[in-house]
Amino acid sequence: MISDLFSGVTKLAQPLLLMLPPEQAHEATLVALEKGLYPRSSMAADPRIAVEALGLRFPNPVGMGPGFDKEGRAPDALLDIGFGFTEVGTITPLPQPGNPAPRVFRLPRDRGVINRLGFNSGGHAAALARLARRQKRGIVGINVGANKDSADRAGDYVKGIEAFAQIASYFTVNISSPNTPGLRDLQAPAVLDQLLERVMEAREKIATSGGRRVPVLVKIAPDIAEQDIEPIVGRMIAHHVDGMIVANTTLSRHGIRDADIGREAGGLSGQPLFHRSTVMLAKVAQVTAGRMPIIGSGGVHSGGSALAKIEAGATLIQLYSSLIFEGIGLVDRIKLELAEAVTRAGAKNITELIGTKTNVWAAKPVDV
Ligand SMILES: Cc1cc2nc3c(=O)[nH]c(=O)nc-3n(C[C@H](O)[C@H](O)[C@H](O)COP(=O)(O)O)c2cc1C
Repeated sequence: MISDLFSGVTKLAQPLLLMLPPEQAHEATLVALEKGLYPRSSMAADPRIAVEALGLRFPNPVGMGPGFDKEGRAPDALLDIGFGFTEVGTITPLPQPGNPAPRVFRLPRDRGVINRLGFNSGGHAAALARLARRQKRGIVGINVGANKDSADRAGDYVKGIEAFAQIASYFTVNISSPNTPGLRDLQAPAVLDQLLERVMEAREKIATSGGRRVPVLVKIAPDIAEQDIEPIVGRMIAHHVDGMIVANTTLSRHGIRDADIGREAGGLSGQPLFHRSTVMLAKVAQVTAGRMPIIGSGGVHSGGSALAKIEAGATLIQLYSSLIFEGIGLVDRIKLELAEAVTRAGAKNITELIGTKTNVWAAKPVDV
């Protein structure tokens, strides 16, 4: 009853939220989550969609992508809503305001979002204080980044690993935001080598001095040139990175209909990113060839699009932009449709569907 009432209220709230400017709608949603004003998932855990990966047991493969809860304000609420995991961040060592507003724009016809937030962050200390207070339950990844004015960007990622090692279920090293000038240059193989060496060494040092060996994933951009994919993924394999996230937002504006808003600077996400990021995911999956799990991110907005990511090679998926348009009921709908897809395929578990169409997706052009 109460959950029916809540989901009714949520359905009503969604169109109202869309009338607010994006950042205000985002803040209102976070406050509602902090205050417990949200419907809990009504779906029982379904073994068909449980996933073992990164040494963790994910109750389902649908994760909340980073950028929504940048400061660790509502991880438990997001898990209650039904996400199998959530990722906090990107967090930088020092607090920084990010770019001037307006800096988030909806593309309603395309069901896309452009943002140029620029790592607005309360810094490590504030997020750590908040996260350390929670009861440890559920899977909460920590996405670490570098301050805009940092003299040692690789050192900022190391600080992130050191700060959150006791509370992170996994780490994401975010080198793919387009909104911090020069950050994506860290993806260049030679630079990447130095970064990964320092990050993985920091992780090992903590592990060998009695701490946890926290899995480290690296999140890449969907705009990497075709010929660079193999060398970049090769560096990840060489440094024994535990997983990859494909992909962050794109600088491409290919095929969008909201052309005026499309001229805003920033990274594009949501449905216009789906095809490009799924092709990229499949190309990465061809190189990793099962050696590490990949989290598929970019334009997931339905059970069908979540399944497509898994078939292209994703072990887990994340979403963010589609929630802005669809509301949180989407999470349980996707889970239900994934579970039905498992049964339809005559499989026992969703992991049997991972990569079944990698070659089909990898053969597609990035822009259609
Ligand atoms: C407003 C906004 C802020 C974001 N901030 C971050 C961030 O801080 N760190 C990060 O790794 N990704 C960030 N992202 C990227 C998302 O996590 C995700 O990779 C991307 O939006 C593609 O997924 P989607 O199409 O489901 O939104 C952000 C996305 C949006 C829309």
